[in-house]
Amino acid sequence: MTLRAVVKGVGHYLPERVVLNSEFEATLDTNDEWIRARSGIERRHFAAEGETTSMMATAAVHAALRSAGLGVDDIDALIVATSTADLTFPSAATMVQAQLGMTKGFAFDVQAVCAGFVFALANANALIVSGQARRVVVIGAETFSRIMDWTDRGTCVLFGDGAGAVVLAAEEAAGTSDDRGILATDLNSDGRYRDLLYVDGGVSTGTSGHLRMQGNQVFRHAVEKLAATATTAMERAGVSASQVDWIVPHQANIRIIQGTAKKLDLPMEKVVVTVQDHGNTSAASIPLALSVAHAQGRFKQGDLIVTEAIGGGLAWGAVVLRW
Ligand code: COA
Repeated sequence: MTLRAVVKGVGHYLPERVVLNSEFEATLDTNDEWIRARSGIERRHFAAEGETTSMMATAAVHAALRSAGLGVDDIDALIVATSTADLTFPSAATMVQAQLGMTKGFAFDVQAVCAGFVFALANANALIVSGQARRVVVIGAETFSRIMDWTDRGTCVLFGDGAGAVVLAAEEAAGTSDDRGILATDLNSDGRYRDLLYVDGGVSTGTSGHLRMQGNQVFRHAVEKLAATATTAMERAGVSASQVDWIVPHQANIRIIQGTAKKLDLPMEKVVVTVQDHGNTSAASIPLALSVAHAQGRFKQGDLIVTEAIGGGLAWGAVVLRW
């Protein structure tokens, strides 16, 4: 018998304020048509003043626990994937722990930018299969609106805020690709590409800084690396692309999503797309997409799902799981 990390619940939180593309037209040389055509984004949510990553993460955890039929006391560990923690430290995860009233177990952050949720899922899986935790909540939560340069039209129109959470629990399984739960993971990074996507602030500058991106260079890496990591994870899981029911990709740009699906030879009907409504919410984008698709009743038990993401670092990876 093998231990598998099985999804028991999923939930999300989006800030109330919705910002349409047209709102940027007042202050920037841009327009709705350009943003839609180049990115697929139509609107995004921005956090209210004083609304933080840990607050949104906590709301998403409450929703995910409700969906799992579990309480805070049932959880052994919390992992928050974020690049926009409220403070340099403590971790966003311990802040979430406090807001939940959770006084046992452990909590920590994972920082792999837009690939953060995939890295956090892989870590949660490792904790579960090694017997160190039985129930783990994995959260992706971001307030990228706090690190935007509002004069840079090449970046500030692309990002949004939000949070999503997934509850994983250990279940005994046969150890085959028919099992429910996480079947395989693949993680990669290459720090030589740090200048393509980074924030120009931090402890070394004494400011939280602004996001800087060579968008067309990131684009060039994205499709190739995403298709490669998804393929590796599928090989490890012992499944082929033709068996996949859903791709739930990082939601950065519709053209990257389409290009990756094409390279994997999968039709867009099998791809969950939320980028039009959320923009790029970095580590929050995959759990948000999972939660929205679940709420729409799109997944059924036993569906084979592939998630894949790439972000600053560069860091990229994929997870294959059976719902
Ligand atoms: N409105 C209008 N024009 C804009 C614009 C905007 N919001 N942003 C950039 N432009 C302009 C550029 O200034 C450039 O003008 P120029 O030719 O006069 O210099 C032109 O559009 C083309 O810019 P380019 O960056 O080559 O466009 P693109 O087709 O690559 O699209 C992105 C830009 C950012 C949408 C695209 O590169 C992208 O999505 N990259 C990946 C980004 C990403 O996903 N990052 C996160 C990974 S986690």
